[in-house]
Amino acid sequence: MDKIRIRGGRPLRGKIPISGAKNAALPLLAASLLSDETLVLRNLPHLADIATMTHLLAQHGAEISMAGEHPGGGHMGHVLKLRAREITSTEAPYDIVRKMRASVLVLGPLLARCGRARVSLPGGCAIGTRPVDMHIRGLEALGAEIELDDGYIIAEAPHGLQGGVVVFPRVSVGATENLLMAASLAKGEVVLENAAREPEVGDLANCLNRMGARIEGIDGDTLRIQGVDRLGAADYAVLPDRIEAATYAIAAAITGGEVELIGAQTETMEAVLAALGEANVNVQRTECGIRVGVDAGAKGGVRGIDVTTAPYPGFPTDLQAQIMALMSVADGAAMITETIFENRFQHVPELMRMGADIAVKSATAVVRGSGGPGGGGLHGAPVMATDLRASVSLVLAGLASAGETMVNRVYHLDRGYERLEEKLSACGADIVRLTE
Ligand code: EPZ
Repeated sequence: MDKIRIRGGRPLRGKIPISGAKNAALPLLAASLLSDETLVLRNLPHLADIATMTHLLAQHGAEISMAGEHPGGGHMGHVLKLRAREITSTEAPYDIVRKMRASVLVLGPLLARCGRARVSLPGGCAIGTRPVDMHIRGLEALGAEIELDDGYIIAEAPHGLQGGVVVFPRVSVGATENLLMAASLAKGEVVLENAAREPEVGDLANCLNRMGARIEGIDGDTLRIQGVDRLGAADYAVLPDRIEAATYAIAAAITGGEVELIGAQTETMEAVLAALGEANVNVQRTECGIRVGVDAGAKGGVRGIDVTTAPYPGFPTDLQAQIMALMSVADGAAMITETIFENRFQHVPELMRMGADIAVKSATAVVRGSGGPGGGGLHGAPVMATDLRASVSLVLAGLASAGETMVNRVYHLDRGYERLEEKLSACGADIVRLTE
């Protein structure tokens, strides 16, 4: 299995191109099942999770072809043409769903288009139990009949889905996306209340509207969807990955360097950029993206700050591990509270093995920083993590550590960071992938 070796202590300097957002791309790919016409998706990141989703879609009968790179290459990613002329199977088997929970996003489209679906229950994962009860209750509110049998969700709506009101008891990105897709082909009006406002949900809604859906209230917490009989062709570019961009912003800060994040959008990153600003990290908008750096000489290094994760527009749970890595080299203490997932502190013991001073009490971690970026508070170690963002937080800590860090279980990183080692080494990091 591949490993990543990092020799830390080198400030990052340069430009990093930001890829298309994984968490926008996955529902957009699933949306291709809603139409018998072609959906062209541009700026798709080249990632293991995208490959898993295309494998699942092909299994449902979608024809998929790669339409090549964006002219000139650069930060634009791959283009896929997807056409689900006919749905040949309405089953999403356990073997694919267990690899990637986002597979459950085919439930809404299959049910809306074919009147039935059999989708494996995703089960828990490293960061929490992650039930799908809100996806199920929401589809039931649109008239679906759903049973759980043998680890599968068996859903039927032989006469199509109906209009209705769904009030989500808590904010769920995936449930909002599944319901948005299903509602697009319902008979009548669907209202989704307490909907997720994540930019990735807005991206899906915009693409569905391009396909002929009638969705109003995009980016708000109440979405109104007038169902239509069919959806058609569309050509759509996936939005830039705000989590990837913020991860590299933190990489610049943790090494005491300065990078320009090409293609990053400040509008979708306000909570994170505000937190970085409070931590004494300089953030500037540029013509092509955002410049992030630490002006250690004039103003001192990174300062400890308190962060609480929350649904968008709050501070994203998908950046909690990365900000914790930064706080472990900050000047002063930080309090980091996780409110979205019940088990998302898996990086803590690994960061502590690298010398971080962290105490966890239920959902809050108190981090006593080692005094400033490049300050040598952390030291390299062999580490591994059980999920994507925890893994990348160890890469960040490795970049700021004295000595060598070996990150195991690299497949987690390959699920969500496109060409991570290439992007970092282009800015001067000493990072290589070792293939065994
Ligand atoms: C999405 O997961 C993202 N994944 C996650 O990114 C992200 O961490 C999460 O949203 C929160 O922002 C994709 O977009 C593919 P949720 P999702 O439904 O949709 C509970 C990453 O690292 N819940 O918003 O699965 C749930 O357990 C990943 O890229 C229910 O109780 O998350 C959690 O506590 C990991 N019942 C909370 O809601 C349900 O039916 C929010 O989960 C659904 C969710």
